[in-house]
Amino acid sequence: MNANRTILITGCSSGIGRTCALGLKARGWRVFATARKPEDLKALEAEGLEALYLDYADPQSVEDCVREVAERTEGRLFALFNNGAYGQLGAVEDLSREVLRAQFEANVFGWHDLTRRIIPLMRANGAGRIVQNSSVLGIVAMKWRGAYNASKFAIEGLSDTLRLELRGSGIHVSIIEPGPIWSKFVESALRHFQENIDIEHSRYRAVYERRLKRLRGETKPNPFKLPPEAVLKKLVHALESPRPKPKYHVTLPTHLMAILRRVLPWRVLDLVLDKASDSN
Ligand SMILES: NC(=O)c1ccc[n+]([C@@H]2O[C@H](COP(=O)([O-])OP(=O)(O)OC[C@H]3O[C@@H](n4cnc5c(N)ncnc54)[C@H](OP(=O)(O)O)[C@@H]3O)[C@@H](O)[C@H]2O)c1
Repeated sequence: MNANRTILITGCSSGIGRTCALGLKARGWRVFATARKPEDLKALEAEGLEALYLDYADPQSVEDCVREVAERTEGRLFALFNNGAYGQLGAVEDLSREVLRAQFEANVFGWHDLTRRIIPLMRANGAGRIVQNSSVLGIVAMKWRGAYNASKFAIEGLSDTLRLELRGSGIHVSIIEPGPIWSKFVESALRHFQENIDIEHSRYRAVYERRLKRLRGETKPNPFKLPPEAVLKKLVHALESPRPKPKYHVTLPTHLMAILRRVLPWRVLDLVLDKASDSN
C-alpha cells in the first residue's frame, strides 16, 4: 500500500464521513474510519474499512486512536479528514456554559487535539494533507445557530493559522465549506436541541416551534440540498491534486454567501442573513 494513500476519517457512522470513507476506499485508499457506537464500528469493518473508536469529547480515545493508527502504519500517515461533529441549535442567550462547552469539545478541541497528534506522523511521511470539514456557517453567521457558528468560525481560524505555519513543510491544510447536505445532521441537531435547550420557557419559544417543524420535515424541503458525494468530490481534489486549494465551497448557498460576505457592507449582509436564518 502506498503510504501516500492512507487516511484517517472521523465521524464515519453516517452522512459525509461514511460516504467519503467508502468513496476513498473505492479509489484505492487505505481508510481508517472512526465511529463511536459498537454497531457502527462493526458495520464499517463489514464494508472493508479499518474501523477505530474515537469520540472527540474523550481525550483518551483520541490518544488511543492515534497510537493504533501509528502502530498499523509504521508511524506514517498521509491524510486526516476531520469531519465528525454535531450542530447545537438555540439562541445565544439560551446556551448554558456547559452546552457551549460540549459543542466546542466535539467540534473544536477534539479536532485540534487529533490534528496536533497526527502531524508528527505526516512529518515522518515527508508529506501530508489535513482537510477540515467546516461549513457555510464558518463563513457567515445565522440566528439560532450561535454555538455551531462559533465552533466552525474557530475551526476556520485555527486551520487558516495552521496552513500558514505549515507552509513549506509538505503538509497542506484545506477547508471544505458545505452548505446543506443530505445526512443525519438534522436528526442529530433535533436531538441536541430538545435535550439541551429549555424550549418551553424560552422567550424564543414561537421561533423554536417553527424550527422544530422544519427539523421534523414538516415544511418544504431545502431545494439546495446536495448528496454527500458533493463533498467527496472536493475531498478527492484536496487529497490527490498536487495543488490542493485552501478552501472548497460546496452547494450554491455557500458560493453565494462567500461572495455576499466579501462584497456587502455589514448592515446589508445582516438584513440578508436575518431573512435567510428563518427561511431554511
Ligand atoms: N449536513 C450538512 O448540511 C452539513 C453542512 C455543512 C457542514 N457539515 C459538516 O459535515 C460534517 C459531517 O456531518 P454530516 O452532515 O455527515 O452529519 P451526520 O450524518 O450527523 O454525521 C456526523 C458524524 O459525526 C459524528 N460525531 C458527532 N459527535 C462526535 C464526537 N463527539 N466525536 C466523534 N464523532 C462525532 C457522528 O457520530 P455518531 O453517529 O456517533 O453521533 C457522525 O458519524 C460535520 O462536521 C458537519 O458540521 C454538514
